[in-house]
Amino acid sequence: MTPYFSTSLGRLYQGNALAVLNELDPESVDVCFTSPPYWGLRNYGTEPQIWDGDPECAHVWGDEIPGRRWGNAENLCGIQATIAGSRSNIEAMESGHGAFCQSCGAWRGDLGMEPSPSLLVRHLADIFDKVRRCLKPSGALWIDIGDSYAGSGGAGGDWKHGRKRREVKWRQPKQVEVPRKSRCAVPERIVVEMLDRGWCYRNHCIWEKDNVRPESALDRFTQNFDDVFFFTLCEKYYFKTQREDFAAGKPSPRAQLRVSQRSGRPCKINHEGRIARAIWKIYNPGFSEAHTATFPTELLAKPLAATLPPGGVVLDPFLGSGTTAEFAERIGARWIGIELSTANCEIIRERVEWEARQLKLDIGEEAAA
Ligand SMILES: C[S@@+](CC[C@H](N)C(=O)[O-])C[C@H]1O[C@@H](n2cnc3c(N)ncnc32)[C@H](O)[C@@H]1O
Repeated sequence: MTPYFSTSLGRLYQGNALAVLNELDPESVDVCFTSPPYWGLRNYGTEPQIWDGDPECAHVWGDEIPGRRWGNAENLCGIQATIAGSRSNIEAMESGHGAFCQSCGAWRGDLGMEPSPSLLVRHLADIFDKVRRCLKPSGALWIDIGDSYAGSGGAGGDWKHGRKRREVKWRQPKQVEVPRKSRCAVPERIVVEMLDRGWCYRNHCIWEKDNVRPESALDRFTQNFDDVFFFTLCEKYYFKTQREDFAAGKPSPRAQLRVSQRSGRPCKINHEGRIARAIWKIYNPGFSEAHTATFPTELLAKPLAATLPPGGVVLDPFLGSGTTAEFAERIGARWIGIELSTANCEIIRERVEWEARQLKLDIGEEAAA
């Protein structure tokens, strides 16, 4: 498989993560950190892909499932407020939810634009099964994901479809999977699906967004965080304990006085700080070049400090604008990226090359000093 481009540290593959992951060497990756498309929020302008069904089928595509309608103010504003890049949000709402094959039940569409949250969750879990094949047994998987709200139109419908060849079972929705205005619980569904597929769920971390856009919904609280889930393959895995300052910069007087019940002597205080906590308040500067929901490089800092061993390889199968690759280049780590959109692949190339030039300049300046 030929990479779209490569550097001395990493390589980018253009294509559908589901297919590209099959081509990577088994047990070659130490940690995967990624943010997949959220449900129903964005159209990345890529060619629709074919999911599930029978690969041998000639496919007889049913009608395109209509997109969500305008006029759902809560939904529209919620979406615009959550994610930057409102043009692609509008496109996402106008574009449909793909189509099912009337013969084998395959679905044709863009990941994230499935007609129901549960179908997206199944597709994501299928991709993470492929990630599992590439991870070393000591490896880790981090998933950053946000949620969306159910609207009034097609999305949220209970689109049932046949799975066996020539057995047409696809029918119009009878009941909604998620009530209108409800959160779709995609992050929660992913966790349950991953557990069902044998992943070990080690942490639920929170990325508290320092600079969330204001939302207009008056009958709920503003959603100002993303979930970041930490999974492993087994009980024993690579993890370098991370510490942080005690809240007031040093252990509290009460903690210093605490006496061990067993020995009667004062408890040992770890002056390197307490074990790092799971809520991370991080400002997102965004990345103006990209029409994609970028996460900040700082979001990678703690997870990779903990789970990327020296000389290890980090994988991001939804590389987007290339944040993970940029961060890896900066810290001198090896990386593998996958991205479907060729427009984004070009953005990644520019971003990574710029980072490499900056590093050379920095090294040159240091040598000259
Ligand atoms: C939420 S964005 C990732 C943003 C990224 N973390 C960043 O900081 O720029 C998800 C990305 O997944 C890509 N994508 C969507 N479907 C894909 C697929 N089937 N295979 C690989 N990439 C896909 C989209 O083009 C988009 O760039």
